[in-house]
Amino acid sequence: MGDKQNELSFGNSYPPSVSKLQFIFFTLSLGWRSSGVMLKVISVILSMGLGVGASSLAFAAGEKPSCTTSKCHGSIAVGKVVHPPVKGGECETCHVADEGAKPEKSADKSPEKSKKSKLPTGHAVFKPLSFPQANETCLMCHDGIAETIKKAVSPHSAVVDSGCTACHDPHHSAQGKLLKVEVPKLCFGCHDAMETLLKENENQHPPVTDCLGCHQPHGGANRTLLKEKFTDKNYLPFDEKEFALCFSCHDAALITKETVSEETGFRNGKRNMHFFHIRQAKKWGGRSCRVCHELHASKGPKLIRTKTVYREFEIPMKYEPNTNGGGCTAACHTLKKYDRLKPVENKKGR
Ligand code: HEC
Ligand code: HEC
Ligand code: HEC
Ligand code: HEC
Ligand code: HEC
Ligand code: HEC
Ligand code: HEC
Repeated sequence: MGDKQNELSFGNSYPPSVSKLQFIFFTLSLGWRSSGVMLKVISVILSMGLGVGASSLAFAAGEKPSCTTSKCHGSIAVGKVVHPPVKGGECETCHVADEGAKPEKSADKSPEKSKKSKLPTGHAVFKPLSFPQANETCLMCHDGIAETIKKAVSPHSAVVDSGCTACHDPHHSAQGKLLKVEVPKLCFGCHDAMETLLKENENQHPPVTDCLGCHQPHGGANRTLLKEKFTDKNYLPFDEKEFALCFSCHDAALITKETVSEETGFRNGKRNMHFFHIRQAKKWGGRSCRVCHELHASKGPKLIRTKTVYREFEIPMKYEPNTNGGGCTAACHTLKKYDRLKPVENKKGR
């Protein structure tokens, strides 16, 4: 039988008679695909009480009896990343036998019965493992994640209401970290509004190709699953710590230095306009980045918003860049310009 022999070998953890049956199920399934004639052939074999030659049931050389080397669950432990307990064949760490349930009787050897029967004799019936039991099982070993979830200031509904398997495959994966699909596709699966936003706003903040630059999937010490602090206020006294998220990638000098050269493009001559808006504005307190910037994507350049907020009002904002600077009109003020080479004298006041 050559290669066929290997294909048709089954786990010898089951009694040989079962293996024969398995062979028959397998052949049957082929039969369904090819022709009904196959069924007849099988039933003849059965009625003759003939099994399959012992050699066709043997393991291939070096193959150990287990759930994954048999034809039944062979695909569960293959892939770029295989979960260590699966690799170790520890299926029963997670899958618990349902004592009350009876495995389907395979003693009935009629072809009709065999067609329906899924489990070989001796195979326990396992309880389905779904949320929330699945989460509890995962957290048994992953106590670090359990801690994280318990402490998260903004728990991710995906973790606490859908469960680990919304994002992770418990057995194996082609992605790192056992992810079902890669980020950001994984996130778009539930956050379709974010996917639409990114499609419709072509100027994207470069890190949005990997949401994990800013968000922690399991939650953490900051609101909105943020990796670092980013204030939820629009107007506040300046404190570098309030913008820790931004400064984990950007040099804080773009805000903190009053006089600049290359640190920021938002300068009028050497006067740092970031410093002016964020640190110096005394009347209302300094501004947060998001008063001017979108965080994920914008229609126009530099992630500048088309609308901003002041108190409870949403107000239009018109930003127009040019080669050496730009200008902005908003309810905050009439058109004010900045130019990096030839500093602009704007009229005083609003
Ligand atoms: C780390 C825990 C864990 C281990 C170890 C594990 N499983 Fe699973 N298994 C699960 C979870 C959770 C589900 C439910 C998956 C879902 O809902 O998406 C599942 C589902 C299944 C299913 C039904 C759905 C499917 O994916 O085909 C089979 C069959 C299965 N497991 C077989 C096995 C076998 C065989 C082993 C041992 C080689 C094993 N499992 C080891 C957690 C585990
Ligand atoms: C919203 C999707 C999502 C859910 C739900 C989720 N995870 Fe994750 N998990 C991720 C992503 C994305 C990573 C990769 C993080 C990285 O690379 O920085 C990850 C990483 C991990 C890691 C690797 C170690 C680490 O912290 O990077 C473990 C372990 C883990 N998750 C376990 C769990 C467990 C247990 C649950 C359920 C309690 C769970 N995850 C629920 C998305 C999720
Ligand atoms: C019997 C213990 C055990 C159970 C139960 C368990 N894991 Fe794991 N898991 C491990 C070990 C060991 C590793 C490898 C070391 C590590 O990364 O912590 C691992 C690694 C992981 C990783 C990281 C893989 C990578 O590529 O770095 C993820 C994600 C993960 N497990 C998710 C889960 C999920 C989801 C469940 C529940 C369905 C679960 N684990 C249940 C023991 C377990
Ligand atoms: C299984 C569905 C699901 C997946 C997958 C998922 N999320 Fe969520 N996420 C939710 C739900 C539900 C909420 C709560 C409702 C909302 O704000 O949309 C939420 C909320 C959030 C929030 C706001 C949290 C807050 O406190 O306001 C962020 C940020 C977030 N998800 C990021 C991500 C990222 C990043 C990924 C990919 C790694 C991801 N999500 C994957 C379902 C999911
Ligand atoms: C540069 C950092 C950064 C990256 C990268 C990022 N986010 Fe966000 N995200 C934020 C911040 C900051 C907020 C809080 C919004 C605020 O302060 O107004 C947020 C809020 C959210 C929210 C809550 C709803 C909302 O719009 O306010 C969701 C959902 C979300 N992000 C999903 C994602 C997804 C999905 C990705 C990847 C495609 C992603 N984010 C990439 C910084 C980021
Ligand atoms: C994970 C890293 C990362 C984080 C966190 C991050 N950024 Fe960025 N950001 C980048 C990169 C990379 C660029 C492109 C190179 C550059 O302009 O510095 C960029 C560019 C920008 C730009 C210019 C966009 C353009 O179209 O030219 C703005 C504005 C910006 N970021 C604002 C922010 C704000 C506000 C925060 C905090 C909420 C933040 N960034 C957090 C990585 C990050
Ligand atoms: C008053 C509006 C305003 C506020 C508030 C603001 N920015 Fe900007 N930002 C701009 C403008 C306008 C540009 C475009 C400068 C140019 O290239 O002409 C810019 C450019 C940037 C850039 C691109 C690199 C550079 O400096 O030219 C980054 C990064 C950036 N801002 C980050 C931030 C961060 C982080 C915050 C909050 C701590 C912030 N911005 C607050 C208006 C603002």
